[in-house]
Amino acid sequence: MAQEHITLLDNRRVILGVTGSIAAYKAADLASKLTQAGALVDVIMTEAARQFVTPLTFQSVTGRPVYTTMWQADSSGGLPTHIAHVGLGEGADLLIIAPATAHTLARLAHGLADDLLSVTALAARGPVLVAPAMDGGMYAHPATQANLDILRSRGVIVIEPDEGRFASGLVGRGRLPETPALLGAIRLALARGGILAGRRCVITAGGTREPLDPVRHLTNRSSGKQGYALAQAALDAGAAVTLISTVRDLPVPVGADVVRVDTAAEMLAAVEAHLPGADALIMAAAVADFRPASAAEQKIKKSDDPAEGLHLELARTPDILLAVRAQRDQTGWPRVVVGFAAESEDLLANAQGKLARKGLDLIVANDISAPDAGFEVDTNRVVLLDAHGGQQALDLTSKARVAEIVIERVASLVIERSG
Ligand code: CTP
Repeated sequence: MAQEHITLLDNRRVILGVTGSIAAYKAADLASKLTQAGALVDVIMTEAARQFVTPLTFQSVTGRPVYTTMWQADSSGGLPTHIAHVGLGEGADLLIIAPATAHTLARLAHGLADDLLSVTALAARGPVLVAPAMDGGMYAHPATQANLDILRSRGVIVIEPDEGRFASGLVGRGRLPETPALLGAIRLALARGGILAGRRCVITAGGTREPLDPVRHLTNRSSGKQGYALAQAALDAGAAVTLISTVRDLPVPVGADVVRVDTAAEMLAAVEAHLPGADALIMAAAVADFRPASAAEQKIKKSDDPAEGLHLELARTPDILLAVRAQRDQTGWPRVVVGFAAESEDLLANAQGKLARKGLDLIVANDISAPDAGFEVDTNRVVLLDAHGGQQALDLTSKARVAEIVIERVASLVIERSG
């Protein structure tokens, strides 16, 4: 699948160190996805890595020279060697070693500087990430664990390997995580110091499900995509994120704390539990306004009469934003509240009404009558309305971009409120 552009990675200099593990081939996918996301990726390969994959593989996916030795003359268009051995590390925004063998971890832990990668690790000024990949026994060995502890104590970010089957046929912990997990760890590291660093955002996503009987529920067309994009954008801005979600089939952004709920009542309880001390609440979820008045304990059966319908009695669900408004009046938390308005007619008037009634700072108004905006699709066309009458209309764009703009607005409000 093609990787979308990632603003956080745009033009950032990432060094990818590749060492001699069978998982080295997976690093080509990481190099490719980072490049597609907008990063400038310089790959350094150890001699052992080149037994598994060739420099040409990485050069082809990054479009940049690949570094293999401290001693190479500058014939490849890269930095001259005497500059490369410190210049690469100093000029980089981040260094990730994936896969990192037990041998490389040992060399890093002891500050050895006998090849270009270890020298670069010593010269690196930005965050350093290592993704260990080796046989389970080697990973669990006290020597490897002690080396990882040393690296952690120096601020190196260790990406836990996955459990699974190794090339040897054995099963254990030591597999290189898949590209999305590695990309997520890189994003978290680069987001430190972002505009929402040290802040906490609670974000809801998806359509609630109100049970009718053990096999049926009432729900709506919300896919949760906009809520998940908001969670990712808040993480990219450095925030701690609690994602209260009804969705089961979307990948959770790396670093988000997920709370799974189904009904409006469960969502209200989860929101209230996470609000104390939260800087922002973003209610992107499509909360049902009605639920079956009672959920049948057994499956509802039809009668033999084909003409006989079924009357459902519906009861109102709690309005979460109204409850939050009351709580905020008493406690001051959360500092900022953002709502969504999905409308099929009178977009602005309806959204303005909700903004005032629910005491919001910002509302994202969404015209769901267009096929390319709103439910299920990856694009959205929204207008942001604020409590001072301000309107910001965005052209049709990705839900990721909408999320970034909403998060920028949230960040300014949070900063304004906290002085
Ligand atoms: N919302 C909520 N609790 C509800 C219903 C909605 O907190 N029981 C929130 C939604 O998450 C959204 C905002 O209120 O951020 C507006 O939701 P929407 O369904 O558009 O509006 P309603 O208030 O339900 O009004 P209506 O359905 O009558 O248009």
